[in-house]
Order: sequence, then structure tokens, then C-alpha cells
Amino acid sequence: MYTATAIAHPNIAFIKYWGNRDDVLRIPANGSISMNLGALRTRTTVTFSTDIAEDSLSLNGRRIRGAALQRVSALLDKVREMADLLMAASVESSNNFPTGAGIASSASAFAALALASSAAAGLHLDEAALSRLARTGSGSACRSVPDGFVEWEAGTGDADSYAHSLAPAEHWDLHDCIAIVNAGHKPTGSSRGHKSASSSPLQTARVADAPRRLSLCRTAILERDFSRLAEVAEQDSNLMHAVMMTSSPPLFYWEPVTLAIIRAVQDWRKAGTPVFYTVDAGPNVHVLCPARKVASVQKRLARIEGVQSVLCSPVGGPARLVQSGGVV
Ligand code: PMV
Repeated sequence: MYTATAIAHPNIAFIKYWGNRDDVLRIPANGSISMNLGALRTRTTVTFSTDIAEDSLSLNGRRIRGAALQRVSALLDKVREMADLLMAASVESSNNFPTGAGIASSASAFAALALASSAAAGLHLDEAALSRLARTGSGSACRSVPDGFVEWEAGTGDADSYAHSLAPAEHWDLHDCIAIVNAGHKPTGSSRGHKSASSSPLQTARVADAPRRLSLCRTAILERDFSRLAEVAEQDSNLMHAVMMTSSPPLFYWEPVTLAIIRAVQDWRKAGTPVFYTVDAGPNVHVLCPARKVASVQKRLARIEGVQSVLCSPVGGPARLVQSGGVV
């Protein structure tokens, strides 16, 4: 029996990944930049054993089958091939944040899975190889492997499409206050969304302009320039949603309350509070601010009608192995 446990954090992108050059390998149309969310965690234990007949997956103690299990098995197949291992595996995963609240967990899930499964199989993958492996499960998962503020270089194929750290978590005390919105329906998943991105006539312009936005964002992070980061991140989020809304079929992830929060954030910034918003493939709004503003931003967001709860997180570290209660 071979077993290992890893934890990884989800991440929030300032420059978004939307659309693939290669849907199977998840080679993105453009590079992206994100920060890990340290207060949110996925913890995953992978056990390979000759006693196990077939791969199994549990999430927060509940057995998962179907497409989600197949996606996990596909990553395990890559690990088995690399390690020359024939055993099936059990995968036990838990999140410390509410599932079904629209907080993307595939990034932390596949980063933790890549690390736990490769370590259990006896492989010692370096950060780039781990990031590439995680990418094949979910694109944004490759950004949950390195520390803190992370850039995923799009690359041209499997070998050169992986993420690296721009700066460690301690570099800048930014926080993400996630306004969880009461949404009545489940949004279209990102795998389907990536496939439809190129059907929007705006995607070509969004991708062509990505190097400019990446450069602005990289510099803003390295220089801890909040207003520059605010400007480019909001523009990038709006560009992605413009592509989503103009794809065939169109994808509208925003709810009325999403726009109400966006407007409130703009007003607060005009009035002098350092805040900015960014929205992923769902109606929740991520509101970024420095540590000293978290309490007041959280309170203000919670007062907006339609906001169910507000989850706040500082910047998080890299994916890491855990052993008998401690972190290696
Ligand atoms: O990794 P995926 O396939 O779940 O795609 C993530 C897409 C966004 O969250 C909308 C943007 C991003 O870069 O994280």
C-alpha cells in the first residue's frame, strides 16, 4: 500500500484563463496571473493498493461517481504510467469551504490530487512537472501548485505550459473577500465554457491584448501598486465576461446582485477605499483589498441585499504534503 496526503489552496485570477488552444491538454489561449487563497483548503489522501479493485473518490465523506471520478482517474492514469504502477487508488478529499457555494474547487482539488498521487506513487516531481500534471485535470489547478502570486505561461504544448511563482505569499498582504451570492441555478461549467470562447468575435481581441495586461499585472504585483492592479484586473474580468456574454450560446454568469456589488465596489474606490472586484465563471464577486480594510469591506458587502455570506482569505502558500497531522 502506498499513500500520501496533500493540501492545496484555490486561487483567484487577476488575469483570467478563458479558452484553450488545446482542449484535451488544456493549453490555454493566453497566459494568466492569480493569487492563492490561504484560508481555503482542499486536503486529499491518495492510497494505491493491490486490495483496491477500482479507483474510488469521496468528497467530504460522500462517494462520487460518474464524470468527476473519470476526470480523477484520467490524472491517476498519468501517474500510474509515469511510475509504472498497476494498482487502483482510493482518493479521499475534503474542502474546508462550502461546496456548492460557487467557489471553484477544481483548482485546489487537482493541485492536491497531483501532489498526493505522485508522492504516493513514489515519484518526486519538481514544481513545473507537478504544475503540468495538475493542469491536465483543470487548467487553473496548475496555478495552485506554486507559492503566493503565480503566473501561468501559456506555452505552446504540454512541455512548456505550467505555472511559476512571481512572489511568495508574504510579499503583499492582500485579502480576497468573496461575496457569496444567492444564485438559483448552477452555472455552465468552465470546461464547456472554454470550448465556446472562440465562438465570440471578441475573444481574438481579448487574447491579442493579453500580453499587455499580463505585463501591467506582473509589474503591479511586484511593485505592490494597488491602483494599477485594480485597474487591470477589473478590465480583464470585464473582458472575459464580455466574451462569455457574446459566445454562442451566450453565457451570462452575472446575477442582478453581481452588478450591484460591482457598482458598490466602484463607489467605495471613488470615495477612497482601496478595493477592486473580479468575477469568475459564476455570480459571486471577489473583492480584493489590503489587510487593514478587510473588516470594513466584509461588513459593507454583507449589508448588500442578496449577499448570503462573505468569506475572506489572505494570500496562500504552495501545494504541500502533509504527514500524520503535520506539513512536510
Ligand atoms: O480551470 P478551469 O477550467 O476551471 O477554468 C477557470 C476559469 C476561470 O476561473 C473563470 C478563470 C481563471 O483563470 O481562473
